[in-house]
Amino acid sequence: MRVGVYPGSFDPMTLGHLDIAERGASLVDKLIIGVLENSSKKPMFTVEERVRMLREGTKHLPNVEVCPFSGLLVEFLKEHNATIVVRGLRAVTDFEYELQLAQANRNLYPAMETVFLTTNAQYSFISSTVVKDILHHGGSVEHFVPQKVIEIINQIRRNQHGSSDGN
Ligand code: PNS
Repeated sequence: MRVGVYPGSFDPMTLGHLDIAERGASLVDKLIIGVLENSSKKPMFTVEERVRMLREGTKHLPNVEVCPFSGLLVEFLKEHNATIVVRGLRAVTDFEYELQLAQANRNLYPAMETVFLTTNAQYSFISSTVVKDILHHGGSVEHFVPQKVIEIINQIRRNQHGSSDGN
């Protein structure tokens, strides 16, 4: 069985991530979406919230699982008997970082390969950073993230307001 891992911060999940997950899932028997827990970037959403977004957003994909991970990606691969890493490339600006990551990972674990999928052009301007900025300024992200993710974000915000109102 060919197992792939699609790793990332997914803070939050976007339509671009969904596109890569759908296409990545068609290339392997099982695709595990690995959600980085201990990112050096301070995330807007907790790992539990990000995992929930991905689980809801990929519910229609029967061979996709979503798991949090911490530590080295190659250890996560070994743990799940995975040898393929799927990553999306939006533009040439992504390339240098992705090349470094792929080469470092292969140096640590020569049995693995990184497969790059070029982002569908309609999503190439979308990034989690842009989404966070729009959310921060109170704008609408309906053209940037899956509908399920909008519902989860709205729910999180209602809970936050609810708990701050109660204090
Ligand atoms: O969505 P991101 O933040 O670009 O994803 C980056 C990610 C999670 C793929 C990368 O930071 C990662 O694999 N982190 C785990 C730690 C690791 O293995 N580092 C060594 C590879 S350079």
